[in-house]
Amino acid sequence: MFINGDSLKKALKHDVRLLLYPVIDSTNTEARRLVESGAQGDLLLIADGQTGGRGRHGKSFYSPKGTGLYMSLVLRRDGKAETAQGITCAAAVAVCRAIEELTALKPQIKWVNDVYIGDKKVCGILCETVGSPDGSIKAVIIGIGINIKTPDFPEYAEIGGSLNLDIDRAELAAAVINGVYGLAGGGYMEYYRRHSMLTGKEIEFVKNGVSTHAKVVGIDSGGGLAVLLEDGSSATLTSGEVSVRIR
Ligand code: BTN
Repeated sequence: MFINGDSLKKALKHDVRLLLYPVIDSTNTEARRLVESGAQGDLLLIADGQTGGRGRHGKSFYSPKGTGLYMSLVLRRDGKAETAQGITCAAAVAVCRAIEELTALKPQIKWVNDVYIGDKKVCGILCETVGSPDGSIKAVIIGIGINIKTPDFPEYAEIGGSLNLDIDRAELAAAVINGVYGLAGGGYMEYYRRHSMLTGKEIEFVKNGVSTHAKVVGIDSGGGLAVLLEDGSSATLTSGEVSVRIR
C-alpha cells in the first residue's frame, strides 16, 4: 500500500475511520458521497492519486499518483456555519506546523489557506460542508493536498511546488490530522499571523470582477485579511469572495 495504514492508525490520537484509495476521482467528492449515503462518525480518506482533484474557486488540483498526500477529513460538527470558516485557518496552521516539525523547511501561509515554501505553493486546502435538510451543517470536509515529490505542474497550477524530500506519508498525515483536531477549537491565530505570507505585501485582489490594489496590514481576529486601500481607507477581505495575488 502507498501508505502504512497501521502506523497511521496508531499515531492518530482521535477515533476516525481510515479509508485508503490507490486512485479516486476526489477524496472530497467521495467524502461527501459517504456522508450523504449515511456513513457515521469521523472519517479520514487518503488517496495515492486523484483523477478529478478539486481546488477552491472551481479550479482543479493536480494530483498525480504516487507524488503527494491527498486526503479529506470528515468532522461531525454542531451545525454552525462559522465552525467551517475557523477550521479552514486551523487546517492551514496544522499543515504548516507539521511541515516545520518533520522537516527543516520554512513554510508560510498565503491567506487564506495555501501553504507555500518560498514562492511555490506546496499545499492547498478545500473545506466544504455537508448540509442537513433543515439548513444546518451535518459535517465539515477538510480536503488537504500536499505536493511531496510532484515533478512538474500543468499550466493551471503554475506556482506549484513540492516539499521535494523523502518523508513518511503516514507520519505527515498523522501530524496534520492530530494538529487539525487539536486546533479546531481555536488557539491558532497567533501562529497563523506569524506565518502569514501576505502581511506587509502589496497585493491585487479581485472582488465581483473588479481588481483593486491594496497593502496588507494583517489578519483580523476572524481570519479576515486587513488591507489599506490606495485612497487611504481600510477594509477587511473575507475568504470566498476575493482572490488575491502578490504584486
Ligand atoms: C486549492 O488549492 O484551492 C485547494 C486544493 C485542495 C486539494 C485537496 S486534495 C484532497 C482533497 N480532494 C480534493 O479534490 N481536493 C482536496
